[in-house]
Amino acid sequence: MNYSETFKESINKLKFEGRYRHFKEIERRVGLHPKASLRVNSINSDIIVWCSNDYLGMSQNNLIINSMVNAVKNMGTSSGGTRNISGNSSAIVDLEKELAVLHGKEKAIVFSSGYVANESSISTLLRILNDVVVFSDEKNHASIINGIKKSNVTKEIFRHNDLNHLENLIKNYPIEKHKVIIFESVYSMDGDFGDIENIVNIAKKYNALTYLDEVHAVGMYGNTGAGIAEMMNLQNSIDIIQGTLGKAYGTMGGYISSSQEICDAIRSYASGFIFTTALPPALAKTATESIKYLKKSNYERILQKQKTITLKKYLSKENINYLDHNSHIVPVMVNNPIRCSEISNILINDFGHYIQPINYPTVPKGTERLRITPGPLHTDKMISDLTIALKHAFNKTDNIVYKKYA
Ligand SMILES: Cc1ncc(COP(=O)(O)O)c(C=O)c1O
Repeated sequence: MNYSETFKESINKLKFEGRYRHFKEIERRVGLHPKASLRVNSINSDIIVWCSNDYLGMSQNNLIINSMVNAVKNMGTSSGGTRNISGNSSAIVDLEKELAVLHGKEKAIVFSSGYVANESSISTLLRILNDVVVFSDEKNHASIINGIKKSNVTKEIFRHNDLNHLENLIKNYPIEKHKVIIFESVYSMDGDFGDIENIVNIAKKYNALTYLDEVHAVGMYGNTGAGIAEMMNLQNSIDIIQGTLGKAYGTMGGYISSSQEICDAIRSYASGFIFTTALPPALAKTATESIKYLKKSNYERILQKQKTITLKKYLSKENINYLDHNSHIVPVMVNNPIRCSEISNILINDFGHYIQPINYPTVPKGTERLRITPGPLHTDKMISDLTIALKHAFNKTDNIVYKKYA
């Protein structure tokens, strides 16, 4: 049997469809964000990064950097074990307390990433509930989908943000049956918001638990940066809030916050929590500092909003098609995988602007896009230059007939 041919075929299929992933090798330097250095064949060139999830540039905030450096000097680089076997540092316990307070919950538990937090918590929660139906928004993230798959329970997928569809599905089940509704507050690829208020109402009416992914909202929205649920004063109505420390907070790790019993049950049964090395205490300490900082400082959030408004103004002036849902994410629509990659290449090779093309399966085929996340440190001149470069790249690829992929 020729194993190697099988792998090659699978890769060739991706290449043929224009969705083979090329990772850009970049070096970020303190003080230069959002500028960075692109390395190709050992040659470095300057670029501006427009697609970072370090939404507020917190990974380069001096306070946070110093906190990390000092914490590493004081506590070393590793937790030295799983939470159960010698890795339960005071720093991670303090981080969990901070997260619980942030979301107005009794408890929080920390995982190695937002992905692991979702997959592990959801599969464990559903397995514990056992005879349960899960209702999941069709645009939920892969980590949610895989958590649901792993649990093997009955699932119902409702059309994105379609409350009528959700209600039509949920009302078929007896009121006493266990139910969980899982959705997101900011959908990362379209930049639109989940309808938290109405989903909460349906959950109350049909006696369902709610699980809200706030990964793209924590640090970004709400008075203390707790997310959209805080902004809408709905934190108390959500049973489980999930988030990440790896995006607006500029560090790494994921978590859920919820009641004492739910957190304790997941802590006790979730493989992805139990059988893995705990977050290094220095990282936990730094994440706590970042949360505390963004609880008080609105400066970065306000500046970020201004830059988003400026970008949209420039794009509109040049008739560049983008989705506008009033969030911090601005997807410029290309709607073809090959053209999307070509425009991205023109931007970086000819102008030094880096925006990663987003293709299937991250987004549906035919909706390929350049997902722009303007940050507080992008200048108006950078935004103007990017718009000119985008216009040029769209014009240059305008007369090419691109193959459509089903
Ligand atoms: C909606 C959503 N949930 C969870 C995650 C995973 O979070 P992390 O990057 O911390 O693993 C992502 C990743 O981008 C995401 O978009």
